[in-house]
Amino acid sequence: MHCKDSFPPAEIADIPDALIVRTSRPLDAAPLLELDRACFGRRAWTAREWLEVVEEPDWTTLVAELGDRVVGAAALLLWPPEASLASLAVHPKLRRRGLGTLLLRASLARARDARARWLALEVDAVNAAAVRLYRREGFGVARRFCEDGQARLGMVRRLGGTDGR
Ligand SMILES: CC(C)(COP(=O)(O)OP(=O)(O)OC[C@H]1O[C@@H](n2cnc3c(N)ncnc32)[C@H](O)[C@@H]1OP(=O)(O)O)[C@@H](O)C(=O)NCCC(=O)NCCS
Repeated sequence: MHCKDSFPPAEIADIPDALIVRTSRPLDAAPLLELDRACFGRRAWTAREWLEVVEEPDWTTLVAELGDRVVGAAALLLWPPEASLASLAVHPKLRRRGLGTLLLRASLARARDARARWLALEVDAVNAAAVRLYRREGFGVARRFCEDGQARLGMVRRLGGTDGR
């Protein structure tokens, strides 16, 4: 696995050698939209929203690419001392191989590089896969709220810990 972004070494198995993690470019908007639809269905962001995300400087999107296909992505808003992870998605056919962990750790490293002091995110309380991943990577529940009739969690992870992660 080649990585063009700095992130801590991870004990991650099963990730194809050809996988690349890189910062998005404007041309990624279309494949990111496609990935988002495969992962979030009707809740996916629109084409216009993805165009904004890849073009506006406040946003940083990390793209996991296999061959010429975008197979995962993490969208970050970096406003030091805050950072928020607005989206994390892995293609359904490539899940449970450590790709989500890889993108999450790369996001933490990127937020830390931007001198953010914490990384926050929101997730559906029933999204067991994501909540488990976030807890495993050190996120704690900061608040519980309801949005559009859906129970949601606000989760936060402090950055700059002494363990170097
Ligand atoms: C959440 C998501 C990004 C995880 O991606 P992934 O590549 O499968 O994650 P990983 O392989 O790195 O899994 C890491 C850990 O997360 C947890 N996890 C992941 N998928 C899980 C599942 N289906 N059930 C239970 N735990 C799961 C496990 O603890 C797993 O570790 P393990 O495989 O050693 O048990 C992916 O499922 C996804 O894209 N879901 C749809 C989009 C989404 O809900 N995004 C989050 C919105 S906030």
